[in-house]
Amino acid sequence: MASHDQPAFFSLARTLRAHRSFTAEPVSDDHVALILDAATRAPSAENRQPWHFVVVRDERRRAAIAGLMAGIWEGMAREWSRPRLDPALFDDVDRGFGGGLADAPLMVVVCGDTDLADRGVLASSIFPAVQNLLLGAHALGLGAVLTTIASTDPGPIGEIVAAPDSLRPMAVVPIGHPARVLGPSRRVAVGDKASLDTVGTPWPGAASS
Ligand SMILES: Cc1cc2nc3c(=O)[nH]c(=O)nc-3n(C[C@H](O)[C@H](O)[C@H](O)COP(=O)(O)O)c2cc1C
Repeated sequence: MASHDQPAFFSLARTLRAHRSFTAEPVSDDHVALILDAATRAPSAENRQPWHFVVVRDERRRAAIAGLMAGIWEGMAREWSRPRLDPALFDDVDRGFGGGLADAPLMVVVCGDTDLADRGVLASSIFPAVQNLLLGAHALGLGAVLTTIASTDPGPIGEIVAAPDSLRPMAVVPIGHPARVLGPSRRVAVGDKASLDTVGTPWPGAASS
């Protein structure tokens, strides 16, 4: 199927990127409402919808979240990540924690409601909603990035957004207008990540882009 015949979703999925630098242009409440509506359409185990999205616009709280993430990055994650990440990705992530993420005009702190879902299914019921949130932002021409570094210790981030103990912060998604145009994402070919019927039997199909 040629790309012009494909539903718009496939182009969005193909061009989704992790944005870590933003302009000062604000994001409207209407756009946030659309994004949150998309997020809350996600599937969840038993349809429990164990999510809570804290939209952080307050400058001091955003700065505190960015500072928290930068502190964890510089304190331990940076040197742990350096040999593990492709150098270009490392530089991007480093620039993000070094200031790019702090420029986002809003951050969504995604919490998992431990009263609504067992620990075992909490993440698998939350991250489909986060993916919808990322795609929703992208569909509106906004940039966003899924980060989980602040959730390594849910206490401090929970404190910043006044989350009760039952709400566990699981991700922070800075959203804004992209400051940079990013090229295509780099991914392993589908043929190397898919099989037909049994693992190792090559999947013969390839999508046309
Ligand atoms: C579970 C998870 C955690 C992530 N945490 C971070 C993070 O803490 N900081 C960051 O800059 N990017 C984070 N990312 C974004 C990834 O680095 C990004 O999705 C990946 O490099 C692909 O980027 P691309 O879509 O632009 O190619 C995370 C992604 C996932 C799925």
